[in-house]
Amino acid sequence: MLYMPPMKGFLGTGATFGADLNLVVQLIMGTALIAGARLAKHKRYKAHGICQTTVLLLNLFMIGLVMWPSFRQQVKPALSKGLHKWYYEVAMLHALLGTTAELLGLYIVIAAGTNVLPRWLRFRHWKWWMRTELVLWVIVLLSGIGTYCAWYVAPFQ
Ligand code: HEM
Repeated sequence: MLYMPPMKGFLGTGATFGADLNLVVQLIMGTALIAGARLAKHKRYKAHGICQTTVLLLNLFMIGLVMWPSFRQQVKPALSKGLHKWYYEVAMLHALLGTTAELLGLYIVIAAGTNVLPRWLRFRHWKWWMRTELVLWVIVLLSGIGTYCAWYVAPFQ
């Protein structure tokens, strides 16, 4: 089978095109989420809902396009051997937190934006859950940047 090396990135690090694209999109999405939180503060709830849901769905796309394939190819094989290397550990921690953030975000969107869940599955302390999600997202974003540095910046210096 013909082997196609991954396309080189555009940020001048050792990253692939997909990783650089993901980094830029994630930074834009993180900014959009914070702007979306401010919309809620100004009681523009419809615009807030549209903004946060769009980011969540776009992120699902980025996970499917870049992060899950990369995780499967680079991190998963190391799991059976025990991680024991910063390269794998930082990505594993990031993937665990990222999965939690994405699932919690989807749950919030379904619970807040639709009536499909039974009453006992909807939450009462909306603001608390949404703030927790935003804080978790920022932590995941930082751990993603950490993964990028461990994979594509530190080894190339
Ligand atoms: C809230 C959700 C998430 C955010 C904000 C996020 C953010 C980021 C960022 C900023 C990067 C650095 C750019 C890059 O190297 O591609 C990254 C990389 C990565 N993420 Fe995530 N991520 C999230 C969810 C996930 C999930 C659910 C997984 C598990 C499959 C995951 C696995 C990875 C992997 C393996 C990389 C390295 C990809 C590569 O460079 O080839 N991430 N993430």
